[in-house]
Amino acid sequence: MSSPSSSLAYSSVGTGTPIVFIHGFPHNRTLWAPQLAALGRQFHCIAPDLRGFGESEARGPYSMDQYADDVAHLLDTLGIERAVVGGLSMGGYIAFAFWRRHRDRLRALILADTRSGADSDEGRQKRRDMITLARTRGAGAVADAMIEGMVGKSTRRERPELVRSVHAMLASAPVEGVVGALEAMMTRSDSTPTLATIDVPTLIVVGDEDVLTPPAEARAMHSAIPGSQLAVIPAAGHVSNLERPEEFNRAVGEFMAQNG
Ligand code: MLT
Repeated sequence: MSSPSSSLAYSSVGTGTPIVFIHGFPHNRTLWAPQLAALGRQFHCIAPDLRGFGESEARGPYSMDQYADDVAHLLDTLGIERAVVGGLSMGGYIAFAFWRRHRDRLRALILADTRSGADSDEGRQKRRDMITLARTRGAGAVADAMIEGMVGKSTRRERPELVRSVHAMLASAPVEGVVGALEAMMTRSDSTPTLATIDVPTLIVVGDEDVLTPPAEARAMHSAIPGSQLAVIPAAGHVSNLERPEEFNRAVGEFMAQNG
């Protein structure tokens, strides 16, 4: 079921071809600050807080379809007919749903540090444990449990201040939004059959130290999406756009120069 009435908090920078950047779990739109700062000089960059995160209202229902419909509703609000949609991790799951439900609104796709498959039984059990953790000990405990996988080993070794700021972003997530997103991710459908249907230009980006959605997942999507491009970012983990913004932005800039 889809509730069209959600209005999202968002940042919007620049003019030109619109790119919507969808954050992952349990992030908020500040994830995309380095992209808005740099790519916003050339493009119209928009970054929403998904429902239940950042400054957007925490109100169900929560599902990949609902998040995708919220993004389409935001495009309506902004008077944008067609946009490039980029999503990182859970944002990528939402980008697949956006493709299935709103493909006429899509100019191109950017899939960052994500995967096409649904959760395994083991993965679903981990989500249930995470829901219990969030409800009993709060988002700070979720951040503690997730931070090691969220950033790559090079970042953990060399940039403790960045690790702290990613941890702070995770720890600031409202528990209701965290629980809603975990339930939405554990019940999401398998997007693997969707890959062969994608016929818009697609860029796949992955940090070579990403352990949550490793490069093998990116390569599998690259093989299955006709004509897609793959950029592997060295010395970056799961939040490759924050860990190596210059390399990430270069990959997006080059892709946009060809396809924007
Ligand atoms: C994310 O970064 O969005 C999450 O790691 C995705 C997931 O837990 O499947």
